[in-house]
Amino acid sequence: MLVLILKAVAAYLLGSLSGSLLLGRRGGFDIREQGSGNAGGTNALRTRGWRFALLVVLIDIGKGALAVWLALAIPTTDSSPGRYIEALVCGLAAVLGHVLPLFYGFRGGKGAATVVGTLFVLCPLATPPLLLIWLAVLGWTGYVGLATVIAGLSLVPMLWWLAPGTADLHSYALACAALLLLTHSGNLWRLYRGTEHRFERARVIPR
Ligand code: G3P
Repeated sequence: MLVLILKAVAAYLLGSLSGSLLLGRRGGFDIREQGSGNAGGTNALRTRGWRFALLVVLIDIGKGALAVWLALAIPTTDSSPGRYIEALVCGLAAVLGHVLPLFYGFRGGKGAATVVGTLFVLCPLATPPLLLIWLAVLGWTGYVGLATVIAGLSLVPMLWWLAPGTADLHSYALACAALLLLTHSGNLWRLYRGTEHRFERARVIPR
């Protein structure tokens, strides 16, 4: 149990290393004071351009993947629930670290890129269809937040289908989907009110 707790704390701290806030601090700005105020790849693209956004997304995906990979790679003890459960707990801890980062006053991003990073290790098969769903909704509507919520919710039936009989992974998908829904509640509210930012250039199907 102690090993599980130590791994989860380490994963949370790793998740707290937010790409946009880390790079922003080096560049002398706080992205939470710009654009949508979100510390994530979308707002990085909106306010700082694609090169900065790409770095942000790579860091945020990378730390999710690393947190899960380390949990699987580091040996554990007999009293532990097992490395796979540890990896799932660490994945969630890394995502929570991104959303509520210790190093940045517990005001982080929405966790989508970090969830994707964890899935690269936990269930790589899920990432291409997830990306396709995200791109389809984005191309259709131009709303990144909506695309992320729909892709996040699709994770639950998708893992059910791609990895049957893995109840722990299904619970993980459910927890991630619920968290993404929660962190995007502001986007959904703005969509309802018609004030959500739309990436017109991302729309494949014009109005
Ligand atoms: O994952 C974040 C994205 O879905 C929305 O970001 O900046 O439009 O709130 P933003």
